[in-house]
Amino acid sequence: MSARVTGIAREPGYTVVENASLAGRNTFRVPARAALLIEVTRSDVLPEVFGLAALRQRPPFILGEGSNVLFTRDWPGVVLAVGVRGIQMLEDGPEGARVRVAAGENWHDFVLWSLARGYAGLENLALIPGTVGAAPIQNIGAYGAEASEFIQAVDVYDRQLGRGLRLANADCGFAYRDSIFKREPGRLVVGAVEFLLPRVRQPRLDYAGVRDELATMGVTAPTPVTVAEAVMRLRTRKLPNPALIGNAGSFFKNPAVSPAQAEALRREHPALVAWELADGRCKLSAAWLIEACGFKGLREGDAGVSSQHALVLVNHGQATGAQIWALAERVREAVERRFGVRLEPEPVVV
Ligand code: EPU
Repeated sequence: MSARVTGIAREPGYTVVENASLAGRNTFRVPARAALLIEVTRSDVLPEVFGLAALRQRPPFILGEGSNVLFTRDWPGVVLAVGVRGIQMLEDGPEGARVRVAAGENWHDFVLWSLARGYAGLENLALIPGTVGAAPIQNIGAYGAEASEFIQAVDVYDRQLGRGLRLANADCGFAYRDSIFKREPGRLVVGAVEFLLPRVRQPRLDYAGVRDELATMGVTAPTPVTVAEAVMRLRTRKLPNPALIGNAGSFFKNPAVSPAQAEALRREHPALVAWELADGRCKLSAAWLIEACGFKGLREGDAGVSSQHALVLVNHGQATGAQIWALAERVREAVERRFGVRLEPEPVVV
């Protein structure tokens, strides 16, 4: 097929839409359009799709469920949505399982799938919005766990090499909300993720709130399923629901500073929320910094800072991405002026 598409073209395994609206494809629910939207539903057509002239010319923007992106403008090129589905059990032993999950599967559904079959590991990561294909990109994490702990390998298509590749965990450059996939946007397209899930694992309960929530639930011997329930209860209470109000979860990363800087800040602001990292640096709670600057619950038109959680920017209805970004910049400048710490956005900002 050539790139001469008018309107909508349906090919076996994928569709191409010209001048496509992305408003329903981002959880901020801001208006944006893509010059071309290519949606792939079968992995065997990926080589053909990557051969399309439009995709050879310049990198596509890769979109999952749009739960970690802010569009401040239209995308002039191709938006590629890999909607390939399927969960494949590769190996199932007494120790655990090796499972291959297609990029377009919903993350939380996969977490529930794994728990229902008696595997442990993903319970702290329940209810994170987005697809399985997006999980390695920003190395999703919550309640003391990160996806990278359970990822064995990632199958990608490398646009630069023009072929498929299998990246072992160690080659993915995983770090806090970061990976190799983020470094050259549009180059590596995730097709599937392989997970190694243990049967038995010491529950991880140290993250603030998890133990208390289990106690409230009357759980004395936590299992992966009850830990997942506790995490879901916490998330539901603490984070605004993207189904009800547009948002992309945490809008900034928690910044890491030197021990000296943390100490100086603590002297000036005794209530500062900070914790030590393994490498000696200190992580500061970005939510605390933002709240301390008076932004929690603030609203500028329809762009706002959630009244539930200061780290989450929200769209009260008709905000544009540019308006949300303007508010983000205001928050960032205020935090930098008051604390000398620069916040980095967590979602991808277009
Ligand atoms: N806090 C405030 N004000 C608020 C909210 C929180 O001061 O409005 C302070 C409290 O002291 C609280 C602390 O910040 O104890 C930490 O809050 P929370 O447990 O909600 O965690 P977080 O550091 O703000 C991170 C992740 C979340 C993840 C939670 C739970 C990042 C950028 N965010 O938030 O991930 O759900 O921990 O593990 O690391 C996401 O990435 O989109 C996301 C939601």
